[in-house]
Amino acid sequence: STVVDGFRTFDLTAAGGVTDFGHGGTRTAGYNGTYLGPTLRVKRGERIRVRVRNDLEQDSTVHWHGAILPAAVDGGPHRPIRAGRTADMRWTVDQPAATLWYHPHPDGHTEDQVMRGLAGMFLIDDDDPRTAGLPHEYGVDDLPVIVQDREFDRRGQFRTRPDFSSDIGVLGDTLLVNGVIGPYREVRTSLVRLRLLNGSAGRPYEFGLVSDHEAGDRGFQVISTDGGLLAAPVARTRIRLAAGERADIVVPVRPGERLTLRSLAPSPGENLLVRRFEGGMDSFDVLELRAAATLTPSPPLPPVLSDLPPPDPTGAAHERSFEFYQRTINDKSMDMHRTDLVAVAGTREIWTVHSTHLMPHIFHLHGQRFRVLDVDGDPPPAELAGWKDTINLPMGVRFRLLVEFSGNADENTPYMYHCHVLRHEVEGMMGQFLVV
Ligand code: C2O
Ligand code: CU
Ligand code: CU
Repeated sequence: STVVDGFRTFDLTAAGGVTDFGHGGTRTAGYNGTYLGPTLRVKRGERIRVRVRNDLEQDSTVHWHGAILPAAVDGGPHRPIRAGRTADMRWTVDQPAATLWYHPHPDGHTEDQVMRGLAGMFLIDDDDPRTAGLPHEYGVDDLPVIVQDREFDRRGQFRTRPDFSSDIGVLGDTLLVNGVIGPYREVRTSLVRLRLLNGSAGRPYEFGLVSDHEAGDRGFQVISTDGGLLAAPVARTRIRLAAGERADIVVPVRPGERLTLRSLAPSPGENLLVRRFEGGMDSFDVLELRAAATLTPSPPLPPVLSDLPPPDPTGAAHERSFEFYQRTINDKSMDMHRTDLVAVAGTREIWTVHSTHLMPHIFHLHGQRFRVLDVDGDPPPAELAGWKDTINLPMGVRFRLLVEFSGNADENTPYMYHCHVLRHEVEGMMGQFLVV
């Protein structure tokens, strides 16, 4: 990026291409390349400008998933970038450090454009001195991990039609991690931060780590959720991410070992049908970390990562409830000409979201953040206690969320909320809201 007229400026060109994954050339699409796009890294307070050229053969947009920004630059379906045109998106970064991502969101084509490869990471840094010691050298001790499942057909092309037994679109049998099959990374520091992004169309992952030097799970610390750092690191051996969710974890590394990030089949307590239909029986190796024989000691993890007071629902302006069933939200499917609700900028609302459908859905909200107040009346687990914009909805579980509407008001351009199973989004599981 360069700074032009006070704006940190990025150029993205979305275009089709052919990528060699070892299957003889696969038709894909990417930003500034043939698959995925560059990681954009910005600082809180910066004014940024992104020029997006659309060299695809159809409309596209770039949506900034997790970003707090005006609706006019949110990249929703109301602002298509026509084939051959360039959009100019500008805003001021006004949110704490977080791991966000970007992907297309045009009417009716989100799933196929993301599946072709259009997506990238969007990282926000801030200067909170308390977190200066976190691993942050990109590609060295701070690694992006974009996880996507794909399946290749006999001609080496991505399969796009789901199997009859899947209700969440195509479940691939091959993982692409940062666009690569079977990646490894050499590491030289005693702590490594992995920015996990489930960039798949629907498949959930349950991540864990194993070492060739010992039996059992390697524990790690969860330091952030979708929208920012937790109050303090949380020790875990597994973390589950639904499509669209992110978490940063910090992993301790021992000299000379090979440490494998895996996605494991989720706990046997879950409904068997759901596990089968959403791919929950599958396990994958995601990424191998190859530790050098001697490691540079990393600074210890800071005990306090952010101010994250417990969410306080007093003074909430509204309470609303959203039921996810089959392909509808509150019995409605997406209508670009209908506004489903209007919220007031700078206020907070309590939203109850739940799925009454056998298949889990994933609630996602554009342009704002939320906190989880409770899960079926209980406090959220530590890894759901931070800022969120995307949350998995297992059948029958009620999540009460405290939604914080930003100060960005625009009575003409709606934001979206939708299921982040991209097949469901395309099939209409989406609503629109205005912030005024
Ligand atoms: Cu990541 Cu509306 O989506
Ligand atoms: Cu989004
Ligand atoms: Cu859904």
